[in-house]
Amino acid sequence: MKLLTETITLKNGVEMPIIGYGTWQIFEGKKAIKTFQNALDIGYRHIDTAQMYENESSVGKAIKASPYHHSDIFVTSKLLPGTNTYQGTINAYEDSLKKLEVDVIDLYLIHAPLPWDDNANIQVWKALENLYLNKRVRAIGVSNFSVQDLKKLIAKTSITPHVNQIRYHVGFDQADTIAFCKEKDIVVEAYSPLGKGSILELPQLVKIAKKYNTTPAQLAIRFCLDMGTIPLPKSQNVHRMKENADLDFKIMKDDLEALSKIRA
Ligand code: A2P
Repeated sequence: MKLLTETITLKNGVEMPIIGYGTWQIFEGKKAIKTFQNALDIGYRHIDTAQMYENESSVGKAIKASPYHHSDIFVTSKLLPGTNTYQGTINAYEDSLKKLEVDVIDLYLIHAPLPWDDNANIQVWKALENLYLNKRVRAIGVSNFSVQDLKKLIAKTSITPHVNQIRYHVGFDQADTIAFCKEKDIVVEAYSPLGKGSILELPQLVKIAKKYNTTPAQLAIRFCLDMGTIPLPKSQNVHRMKENADLDFKIMKDDLEALSKIRA
């Protein structure tokens, strides 16, 4: 489990744990609070939520009930898609802060580059810049942005996103976006590193996993790490939560190449 405490340094100096716990489709309530508490007990120190996930209050309650201070846990949230004004963004941020019961959100992201026009997109980013410059958030970024979306944003704003969170897993190529982000020093986070569970029986993945004496899930998550991205695996099951963080091995170059070529 030692990887759970390892961090990557974002370009503004903020340290972010290299494995995050994904919370999509786990809705507010006692069960969600218990699940998030389990994740914290296992050792996850990076929790990824969003306004759209409707579980920020449960994330906040799990942190409050834990023996850990918020400063020990890296919390990401995302602006509700469709928010398209400067003030709307600030209001949404305040709402997330209240639900999460924290003073500052570690990483705040634009959830998706839609459905607004480019100008609205810029206004929203300016609101994020303002929150960042006023130290209301420690880092800012985007999610689901293509190279084109990133270029448009970067051309018209002053702070380049610290992070781009995208769908990335074995079988789903994102080489262009990852290369562009690397060039701009934007850390890429991989959501659905297990392809929502759909890739776990791919014969080649299963075969290579056997060679490393790991499960296909462990190999798929390690693949994201070894490709230079930050995986955000999601599980509600304690055994699998542990399994997904037990990744003390490295994939050899030729296997990494073979895995990158899989198309599912
Ligand atoms: P569960 O919550 O029952 O563990 P992704 O992270 O790509 O979005 O995938 C999440 C899906 O994969 C969930 O359905 C989750 O189910 C399942 N899952 C998570 N970890 C594992 C694992 N180690 N082995 C098999 N399935 C897993």
